[in-house]
Amino acid sequence: MNELQREYPEEIERILAKYPPEYKRSAVMPLLYLAQRRQGYIPPQAIEEIAQILGLSTTEVASVAGFYSLFHEEPGGRWRIQVCTDLPCALRGADEFLKNLCEALGVTVGGTTTDGLFTVEEVKCLAACHRAPVFQLQSGSEIKYYENQSIDTVLALVEELRRRAESEKEGV
Ligand code: FES
Repeated sequence: MNELQREYPEEIERILAKYPPEYKRSAVMPLLYLAQRRQGYIPPQAIEEIAQILGLSTTEVASVAGFYSLFHEEPGGRWRIQVCTDLPCALRGADEFLKNLCEALGVTVGGTTTDGLFTVEEVKCLAACHRAPVFQLQSGSEIKYYENQSIDTVLALVEELRRRAESEKEGV
């Protein structure tokens, strides 16, 4: 029994019970989600644990985790700003938008602001190609989409979130 199983025995049992034994590999998504809930990201150890539970290779589990932008393989800030830079968005200025955002926040792509609040990431198509620049904002299980963005609108959002974090700290 590995650490993930020791920590969430009932949830894992419940997840696995939804799949016939010969299809238990299909439980990889809910198990990744469970592992991410624990630490906010999915460390290599969790990939190994899920692989053990499902009888898969770590490469198979890691490839699923790596495919979806909703799974995080590195720790990040409280909010993840995930900007689409696929070709249609790039044609509408997504690269410039991302560059300006990183500069304004003092990070490189994949980096986290020094206050630990924001991580900026690049992702693939978010299905709003004609309304680029677009990004998804993730925090825990919450996700919101922002379209037709400019550097001014995203920085206004960043400020609003910083104020929210500040007032929570002060218990306002
Ligand atoms: Fe960016 Fe589709 S290419 S949303």
